[in-house]
Amino acid sequence: MRKALFTLVILALLAAACGGSGASQPAGSGKAAGDANAGKELFARPVLGTSPGCITCHSLEPGKTLVGPSLAGIAGQAGNTVAGQSAEQYLRQSITEPDAHVAKGFQKGLMLKVQLTDAQVSDLTAYLLTLK
Ligand code: HEC
Repeated sequence: MRKALFTLVILALLAAACGGSGASQPAGSGKAAGDANAGKELFARPVLGTSPGCITCHSLEPGKTLVGPSLAGIAGQAGNTVAGQSAEQYLRQSITEPDAHVAKGFQKGLMLKVQLTDAQVSDLTAYLLTLK
């Protein structure tokens, strides 16, 4: 079981390293563009490292609250949440510093900081930006 998980992680890393090199889609605001497909796959994993995965706390159905808010339509709201932050900046910060800004109606400390590489954060951000 552990071994299978490990193999999956390695495969995912390889896929992330090899994929998307030809695509020249600018992510909008400077930072290295993530791979939305890789982000989608990461988002759907039940476990990330030793933490529960995003999907265990975030539904993609509008209005459906699990532990955290539904992320349906998050791309549209993200740019209007914190003055001066673009959608990409807001999403990136929401993942890497969950308590920097707490979503309306939720409490600090509920979203666990998941151990992710910078590339994984970029991939997840790219994916969330497709949830219009
Ligand atoms: C243990 C449950 C939990 C996990 C796991 C989790 N989140 Fe969250 N998340 C929350 C909660 C609760 C909030 C609302 C409080 C806050 O903003 O910190 C939140 C907020 C967010 C927000 C801001 C939403 C908004 O409306 O402003 C984003 C984006 C987000 N999470 C993305 C992710 C991603 C991507 C992952 C996987 C890497 C993840 N979350 C994993 C619970 C979780």
